[in-house]
Amino acid sequence: MPPTKDEESDGPPSQVEDMEMDGEAVSSSTDLSEILKEGTKESHDQAENTQFVKEFLKGKIRRELFELGTVALYFTYSALEEEMDKNAEHPGFAPLYFPLELHRKDALAKDLEYFYGEDWQDQIKCSEATTRYVERIHHIGEHEPELLAAHAYTRYMGDLSGGQVLKKVAQRALHLPSTGEGVWFYTFDNISNPARFKQLYRSRLNTLETSNETRERIVEEANRAFRFNMEVFEELDKFGKTLGEVVQASGVPLHDGKGDARK
Ligand code: HEM
Repeated sequence: MPPTKDEESDGPPSQVEDMEMDGEAVSSSTDLSEILKEGTKESHDQAENTQFVKEFLKGKIRRELFELGTVALYFTYSALEEEMDKNAEHPGFAPLYFPLELHRKDALAKDLEYFYGEDWQDQIKCSEATTRYVERIHHIGEHEPELLAAHAYTRYMGDLSGGQVLKKVAQRALHLPSTGEGVWFYTFDNISNPARFKQLYRSRLNTLETSNETRERIVEEANRAFRFNMEVFEELDKFGKTLGEVVQASGVPLHDGKGDARK
């Protein structure tokens, strides 16, 4: 469903009402976008605080681990986008179907070709944690498509939010070319204004016709999606530990936990 002119504007103000009850702010919104944001807040905090993500944000990332992270994303988005294509007309997902704007599989394939060369497909393997995530996505697409929104929300809203920062961190830490090779995943060529697109996406989430029970299941599934992502980060982190200390191109170890010594 292409965006209409009205949707492309920032849309009506949110209908969230914050009430003071016993000194605590309580959100009374029934908008799915608000329920999802609220209901995954704790998971988001946990994801941001995983060792892998914290080190990545500091620019402490080995090229090998970044490449494996890209492999994990490739398998994840291949599954997600396959299920989204199959459910493009399902009423519980159709309003969120934006293949031109959002789909990442082709961008990830380009990144993998840059990292591993022309025969990249023969060199990559789906890890255990990624396999569990991928299997869940296929299960949802096949048997509970009304929950696919949860998986799409967790990944694409996140990519549109933190993506630009992560792109710069990776380019700098791994000395990637400024022309975009290796980080095409973070580049959304068909979205000129990510903040506005996120507003559109939220308004589409709010048009999904869902019962209260389904909304609760969507939030639960989004939290599950966050957990799958954290399990992939933990697996990468564990693998990273077997590789030893992060070293820069000259062979000098990076500053321990206090950012990049090259600064
Ligand atoms: C939203 C930062 C990791 C999923 C956001 C926002 C920020 C942010 C600042 C708010 C954007 C806005 O309201 O416009 C970060 C940082 C991360 C991180 C610094 C660590 C690198 C993740 C991860 C996931 C994720 C690992 C899931 C895989 C989301 C989602 C939203 C979001 C779904 C949308 C929330 C909403 O508005 O409903 N993130 N994030 N983030 N992030 Fe993250």
